[in-house]
Amino acid sequence: MPSGAKIRVGLAGIGFMGVTHFNAYKAIRGAKVEAIAEEDPIKRTGDWSGVRGNFGSGGGQVDVSKLRVYADYADMARDPDLDLIDICLPTPAHAKAAITCLQAGKHVLLEKPIALSLADADSMLQAAKKAKRHLFVGHVLRYFPQYRYLKQVCSSGRLGKLLAARFRRIIARPNWPTGGLNWFNDPKKSGGAVIDLHIHDADYVLHLLGKPKAVDSRGVPARAGTFDYITTQYDFGRNGPAVTSEGGWIAAQGLPFEQSFEAYFEKGTILYNSSDRPLTLLDHKGGKVEPKLPTEDGFVAEIKAVIQPLAEGVQPGNLLGAAGQASLALCLAEQESARTGKRVVLR
Ligand SMILES: NC(=O)c1ccc[n+]([C@@H]2O[C@H](COP(=O)([O-])OP(=O)(O)OC[C@H]3O[C@@H](n4cnc5c(N)ncnc54)[C@H](O)[C@@H]3O)[C@@H](O)[C@H]2O)c1
Repeated sequence: MPSGAKIRVGLAGIGFMGVTHFNAYKAIRGAKVEAIAEEDPIKRTGDWSGVRGNFGSGGGQVDVSKLRVYADYADMARDPDLDLIDICLPTPAHAKAAITCLQAGKHVLLEKPIALSLADADSMLQAAKKAKRHLFVGHVLRYFPQYRYLKQVCSSGRLGKLLAARFRRIIARPNWPTGGLNWFNDPKKSGGAVIDLHIHDADYVLHLLGKPKAVDSRGVPARAGTFDYITTQYDFGRNGPAVTSEGGWIAAQGLPFEQSFEAYFEKGTILYNSSDRPLTLLDHKGGKVEPKLPTEDGFVAEIKAVIQPLAEGVQPGNLLGAAGQASLALCLAEQESARTGKRVVLR
């Protein structure tokens, strides 16, 4: 595609994430959603009123008359007038859909998690390499303003060394998929709370600090070797920060969504809880401020990070498929540790 051109997007799956991405594209000048693929005939008419999730305002009625509307994402993948397929399908469809779209010559932005197995993730990376197309995995947490702030403080060193950090994500079990069984309830489809949910924080730990030497996890077991809840100690060596994370969908339905972190630096503390504490910076003299954050939505920022290098014809540096695979590998190691009750050394 010519440098500077508008990226033409096909969106696969009009559920919670499909609608979230569709709305985000409206704020992105360098891209335009030109086609959608959705197996539900009602959604194909533009009636997205049944779509909901655990944040955001849900679907509504959408004018799809100017979009090319497909029932099958494989047909959309063959549409010659698209550059990028944004895949927001349920997780068990990720590997096949991504490979189909890459083989059809499209770049792919795929919702997290990359896949349910490392072997599938490998095949997807190979398909991208062979097709000379980019595979991006949408780990949006990296683009949430509070998490961007923490990354920036950590990288700049302006509060000194990071001594310890804790990341937490506890929600009620997802109950939004409509038009059939709730696929989140089947661990063979969703991967369970570790692969589906906790992967947000696992990916962020990798983004912030790189790969730990080992993990030590405990959890609340669920079916098929998965867990409804996990708590992990990441080992960054004796001189590294002491980092823990907790994640799961074990809360009652009154807590649909909550994410939080605490980060303790030599010269300050950063606290954040999406329910009741805006990002707060404390210093050692008792000072307390709420840093001004960019107002840009995390999904808009994430998708811009995918669109920009494609539009400019430069090599992308973030959200690449290999990072998505590394996040999955970390979660699988945490599950293994929780299953065996033993520390797992990362290779
Ligand atoms: N980044 C985040 O914060 C976040 C949040 C929730 C879900 N997710 C991820 O996003 C993905 C989608 O989750 P969701 O909550 O939007 O699911 P969902 O069930 O709400 O939506 C999936 C949509 O895909 C459609 N679909 C299913 N199979 C299809 C096929 N073969 N062809 C065309 N359409 C098909 C369904 O009809 C539905 O409309 C999952 O991988 C999930 O893990 C990410």
